[in-house]
Amino acid sequence: MALRLQTKFLKSFVGTHEYEAMKPLVEAAHKTLNSPNKWTGWLDLPVNYDKEEFSNIKKAASNIQKMCDAFIVIGIGGSYLGARAAIEFVKGASYNTMPKNTPGVYFAGNSIDPDYLSSLIQLCETKDVCLNVISKSGTTTEPAIAFRILKEIVEKKYGVEESKKRIFVTTDKNPATALKALALNEGYETFVVPDNIGGRYSVLTAVGLLPIAVAGCDIDKMMKGAAQARLDFAECDMDKNDCYKYAAIRNIMLAKGKTMELYASYKPDMLSTSEWLKQLYGESEGKDNKGLFPASVVYSTDLHSLGQYVQEGMRNIFETVIDVQNSRSSICVPFDEKNTDGLNFLSGKTLHEINRTAFLGTILAHTEGGVPNIVIEVDALDEENFGYFVYFFEKACGISGFILGVNPFDQPGVEAYKKNMFALLSKPDANGENLKRKQLLEEKLELLNK
Ligand code: PA5
Repeated sequence: MALRLQTKFLKSFVGTHEYEAMKPLVEAAHKTLNSPNKWTGWLDLPVNYDKEEFSNIKKAASNIQKMCDAFIVIGIGGSYLGARAAIEFVKGASYNTMPKNTPGVYFAGNSIDPDYLSSLIQLCETKDVCLNVISKSGTTTEPAIAFRILKEIVEKKYGVEESKKRIFVTTDKNPATALKALALNEGYETFVVPDNIGGRYSVLTAVGLLPIAVAGCDIDKMMKGAAQARLDFAECDMDKNDCYKYAAIRNIMLAKGKTMELYASYKPDMLSTSEWLKQLYGESEGKDNKGLFPASVVYSTDLHSLGQYVQEGMRNIFETVIDVQNSRSSICVPFDEKNTDGLNFLSGKTLHEINRTAFLGTILAHTEGGVPNIVIEVDALDEENFGYFVYFFEKACGISGFILGVNPFDQPGVEAYKKNMFALLSKPDANGENLKRKQLLEEKLELLNK
């Protein structure tokens, strides 16, 4: 198995009877997740994916690799985080800085900040560029703005006809949706976000796979890993199914007042994977005034920052440590005759060994300090393990959400900021609601200024 749940550090925090009490809830969640549902296409995706689309993704990726040295992926939330996580997991967080890695993969449309976009615009001046705009709804403001700006730049640089070959669109298949209509109009190659897969569960569709393949990752291996996880975590038996057990433990923690789950890893290459986890769990469970708050740290970096809080701050935290058991590189601490830095006691040891010792020392200190620790062991950071990891956490999220009693597949709360922003920006609407809201918001802001 590529991933294992390790519960030995929970012994003093969770009793056997507490696991037993979760079993009926897990069974009910399993039934709900497996009953016909318009959002669970990702459950069988590792075996039931569109093979023709998959082969088109590989062809497009290979063309893109020949055409450009900067591939700009435009998307936000579930239409962005998975691809970034996968590329950094498999190829390393420094992917874009290594000259051998071409094309570089850059991300736009995940904010509205002009300074960030400006640096990508400068990139377009010096590099050969292709764009991939990704939006299931086709109407999300952040990527739509970035695409409008970058499309104009690409068209100026290459001309409208040549640009058609350099722009790729991943969106809903419905020709009536804004982005699909635009793609059809302009003649761009398109890829589909399946109807029954929501944004944050879509990394193993074209949403993630095209950028991931462009970065030179083997997407066959990724699907193979996910398919293995689908088999390994199918059975509704909490004692044998680590995925279900993890979902249960999260809910045990929440019931004990541990309201924050801190994803910890010891590898900067896991940073974006933690961002993906935070979005998956935060957007799936944070509703109806319930849910764990997902946060993340990279140790040992954050042992010199948030580590203090974890050790001695409010006791409302538990940690889920992703313990990657192998490293890609082997670097040793050299011997130094003078030993002025006093480090010769480490000479000959690998950084991997020392990092793992930091993990052991930290977990013992944190559990001693009253912070329960779940450990998820991962063999290595490669394609197969990424596919396996994604499936494990997606399924655990579905089960955990149903145990909690929320719908893990919607995100109604995301609309609130959009309504205000559109009203303040005077977005035209049929019934004049935006104008009324704008007046109310402006009055509110005026009162706050007094
Ligand atoms: O998980 C989700 O559904 C969201 O995070 C979406 O992915 C995000 O809001 C972007 O939506 P869209 O792909 O429609 O632009």
